[in-house]
Amino acid sequence: MTRAFTKLGFLGCGQIGRALLAGWLDGGRVRADQVLVAAKRSAEATAQRFGVRAATAADVVRECDVVILAVKPAQALTALDGLAFRSEQLLISVVAGVTRDRLARAATPARVARTMPNTPCRIGRGVTCVLAGPDDDAGDVALVEHLFSAAGHVEALADESLFHVATALVGSGPAFVFVALEALADGAVLAGLPREAARRLAAQTVAGAAALACGPDAHPARLKDEVASPGGTTIHGLQALERRAFRAALLEAIDAAARRSRELMEKS
Ligand SMILES: NC(=O)c1ccc[n+]([C@@H]2O[C@H](COP(=O)([O-])OP(=O)(O)OC[C@H]3O[C@@H](n4cnc5c(N)ncnc54)[C@H](OP(=O)(O)O)[C@@H]3O)[C@@H](O)[C@H]2O)c1
Repeated sequence: MTRAFTKLGFLGCGQIGRALLAGWLDGGRVRADQVLVAAKRSAEATAQRFGVRAATAADVVRECDVVILAVKPAQALTALDGLAFRSEQLLISVVAGVTRDRLARAATPARVARTMPNTPCRIGRGVTCVLAGPDDDAGDVALVEHLFSAAGHVEALADESLFHVATALVGSGPAFVFVALEALADGAVLAGLPREAARRLAAQTVAGAAALACGPDAHPARLKDEVASPGGTTIHGLQALERRAFRAALLEAIDAAARRSRELMEKS
């Protein structure tokens, strides 16, 4: 059985914090009256939007048994500075590039869990990687998986060094897909389709293709081959993508984002 908690608080609640809060409220993982939100300036607005309570960081740490750290990486350690954590608390970080050890030293004596979610959590279609090594407290891991599974797919990673690539693929990946989507829609507009129809059709096409690729035994290469008939339209489009090094560009995007995550870790 998943460990119960009484109150859950956010230290920072911007893009990803609000995406998670929406997913958890919709998914019934928390009730609004259990949630406190602390931020720099926006706590009141976020609290009104979700029907939760605006609070100071000190209130969050005093009242909550589960605390979500969702500030930018550069603010992660200063946001924890001077807060009086207790050993029975669990701090769940969604921050890129700051190791669990580093956070555990700043939030001592609280236990710390590390995750990497993405913004589709807002509609229950997110992905979250959760650090779950052999020495981790099974109750903490189960609670984190229970929370984040309301916001989409959860994948356990046993090795923290894999969080750099998880950050690149899961955290930054939606942005890469949005750029591809925008370009597909622009291409359709170039070929004469009205803008709104182009945008809608591009998004639905990507959503359907992704859903197929998520199926059991689905392999993107086989699914691509199914669409590309000899001498047809698709293979001509694929030729254009290869000429423009589309695959290499995506590969480099993941590599660059993972490298940046490593740099952030070294700076923190
Ligand atoms: N966005 C994503 O897709 C995504 C995905 C995965 C992980 N992440 C990670 O999530 C973290 C937050 O990213 P984000 O995109 O949500 O950033 P964001 O929209 O800028 O939100 C940051 C939040 O932190 C608050 N804040 C700043 N300094 C603070 C402090 N000292 N104490 C308490 N709150 C403070 C801000 O308050 P105000 O609102 O008042 O300014 C804001 O609510 C980052 O570490 C990032 O690596 C993001």
